[in-house]
Amino acid sequence: MANLLVLGTQWGDEGKGKVVDLLTPAFPVVARYQGGHNAGHTVYVQGRKIVLHLIPSGILHAETMCIIGNGVVVSPEAFFRELADLRALGVAVGPARLAVSKNAHLIMPYHPLVEKISEEGRGERKIGTTCRGIGPAYEDKAARTGLRVGDLLEPSVRQDKIEANVAAKNRLFAAYGVPGLEARPILDEYARYAEMIAPFVRDVALLLDERMRRGQNILFEGAQGVLLDLDHGTFPYVTSSSATAGGVCTGLGLGPRHVNAILGITKAYTTRVGGGPFPTELGDEVGRALAKRGDEFGATTGRPRRCGWFDAVAVRYACLINGIDRLALTKPDVLGDQAEVKLCTAYRLGSETLKSFPNEPWILEKVSPVYRTFRGWGNSLPAARTPDDLPAAFKDYLRAVEDLVETRVAIVSTGVARRETVLLETELAGLVDVAKVRSGLAP
Ligand code: IMP
Repeated sequence: MANLLVLGTQWGDEGKGKVVDLLTPAFPVVARYQGGHNAGHTVYVQGRKIVLHLIPSGILHAETMCIIGNGVVVSPEAFFRELADLRALGVAVGPARLAVSKNAHLIMPYHPLVEKISEEGRGERKIGTTCRGIGPAYEDKAARTGLRVGDLLEPSVRQDKIEANVAAKNRLFAAYGVPGLEARPILDEYARYAEMIAPFVRDVALLLDERMRRGQNILFEGAQGVLLDLDHGTFPYVTSSSATAGGVCTGLGLGPRHVNAILGITKAYTTRVGGGPFPTELGDEVGRALAKRGDEFGATTGRPRRCGWFDAVAVRYACLINGIDRLALTKPDVLGDQAEVKLCTAYRLGSETLKSFPNEPWILEKVSPVYRTFRGWGNSLPAARTPDDLPAAFKDYLRAVEDLVETRVAIVSTGVARRETVLLETELAGLVDVAKVRSGLAP
């Protein structure tokens, strides 16, 4: 067995939280490598809904070490709020099983304000970000002005950097007629955070190396989805980090040979939250029905998600650029009321038929999907426990997805509960210790 990367193959919200939670019993270490508290991983445990934004979903398993890598941008406020929420639910979490990279960049109080100016400046073309300050924090990282977690622990560095950044941001705010910020309250607030976060701060590259030398397998937990990747997504309608497989190495500090297998999470239909092109979007009753039944409202912002049919062109692209080994197909139960289910097999652009995904928004806005129609499979999926329990109509759809995206499905998730899962064991066997995963399927 080996290290496994779990990432989303669409525009996020594919159901990664549940799958990571399910696989965690087979991994002593779970590590996040990009994004921030823009993510929202929803997990249901014993009927209780838990939404994690920053801390890896693995934290719900008492034996698991969770790591936040340098590629993540950390809001100390969000970090400590989430810790308090977890503790209120009875989850024991402390530095013994939660580490934050000293090299992770911090989200500061001025970042959401900068984001507001930038989004408003885009007018109709706004990205529809989560307004958590994610983009501006990564901008400061690239500009080499940002603060890192490790800077917090060094009082003189912390003070110099906060003062310099507040002064620079105030010049920007003045140009836009926005009131400036005082450095003093920020200095005081971040001095408090420094004390609180110190026990969690680690050299994550060394920590991971040490764990791997002890023979422990690592689950790398992606946030957002491949089509929101800064380089490979539908730029500029993307997030500001590397949600693709390459982000693991730079976002944690390890070599590619340690990423042994990749499981892509793909929803049986498509959703997108925020702006940007979406070829299979349904603006009709079916779209609204999927949103309602699938509870498609942003876990972070509560915004309604846009819904549409499964787009095999997009998911094939995701499989290709990440080298995805197997897929977990989530939420096909949400399609249970549909008499017919459609699947996009190609795009039409004028007289041309496109089989590969153009990531340019101005092309995607012009394409029309080519659909194949399948019989609906009814509402028996959540009761299925083995592949034999899956209805024939659903199996037809599953095979078509696999053929079109050229990747086999190893897990079908048919509901929010852990037990509502069908493992296709021969496909899963090369990726994880199936017996350990099976043992965790209890509610
Ligand atoms: P940002 O990450 O807040 O900068 O937002 C950029 C784009 O990514 C927006 O369209 C967001 O709606 C989208 N986004 C960010 N995080 C998530 C997520 O976890 N799920 C789905 N969409 C997301």
